[in-house]
Amino acid sequence: MPPISPIKPSPVKLYDFHPTVADFRSAVLRGLSLPQKALSPQFLYDKRGSELFDAICQLPEYYLTRTEMQILQDNAGEIAAALGNRALVELGSGSSQKIRILLEAAPQVTTYVGVDISRQHLQEACAALMDDFVGLDAIAVCADYTQPLPIAAIPELKNRPTIGFFPGSSIGNLEPAEVIAFLKTVAVLGDLIVGVDLKKSPIILEPAYDDTQGISAAFALNLLVRINRELGADFDLEQFEYQARYNQALGRIEMAIASRCDQTVHLGNAEISFQAGETMRTEHSYKYTVDEFQLLAMEAGFQPVQVWMDRHQLFSLHHLKQI
Ligand code: AVI
Repeated sequence: MPPISPIKPSPVKLYDFHPTVADFRSAVLRGLSLPQKALSPQFLYDKRGSELFDAICQLPEYYLTRTEMQILQDNAGEIAAALGNRALVELGSGSSQKIRILLEAAPQVTTYVGVDISRQHLQEACAALMDDFVGLDAIAVCADYTQPLPIAAIPELKNRPTIGFFPGSSIGNLEPAEVIAFLKTVAVLGDLIVGVDLKKSPIILEPAYDDTQGISAAFALNLLVRINRELGADFDLEQFEYQARYNQALGRIEMAIASRCDQTVHLGNAEISFQAGETMRTEHSYKYTVDEFQLLAMEAGFQPVQVWMDRHQLFSLHHLKQI
């Protein structure tokens, strides 16, 4: 009798450009030595972090995901037409829920490339897409999408017209100057469909980032758990707390982890001291008006051709064309 293999081989092709542990350590040490301590948001998404982020997306307070899904659903035909039959490259694909709406509406799309930092999550999501969409080739690229895309290293995209899909308002996690540089980098993909959260009252914004169930807090604090586990640090989670505030002047949610007391944390040979109340920035989440975002896109060399919004104007989805 042939041996029974308990592991089904994955049909998904994976291109792995995941940062190494050494990259992680040096980025953390660099961030914690800044006058305003900071941790890079890309490291929030280990397996647990990705699960917590998926849970955030289901929260009643976190209107972003369901609103963007509604916009996609309401305008699926028009957006599918904009895609044409180009290979669809999704940046920060996570659990690839939104792309399902587009793939349903655009059966002419036969190549999908998901780019995400969370390897296992990404592979599982691509495998599920291949199960559910017959004839679809779903390719997983594990990479930090804020870095130049290694398109040339993906043979499936060679000489293929592509279109980029960057949903979720992840672009809001970049500083405005970084948005321009990022858009110029991803211009290799051709046109872009980009989700952008809109400016609104702090009464709606702040609970979206600091929910009553404490999932947003757990998501941020999980980064300390990850640093302890992977880099051998000794953050005491009881001595840190999560904060999220809307800075109206700068149009951004500022997320941070604050020290509850004066303390010293060890990470390898390094000693990192915190004063009571001192913060480590974990994320900024910028909110834009349609005009503000279109101006940034134009500075990066794109022409805004279409914008879709929900009826409450909470969220926007932009089609940007290469000039
Ligand atoms: C991934 N990104 C768009 C989320 C946001 O809304 O800025 C990240 C997030 N962090 C906490 N809640 C959501």
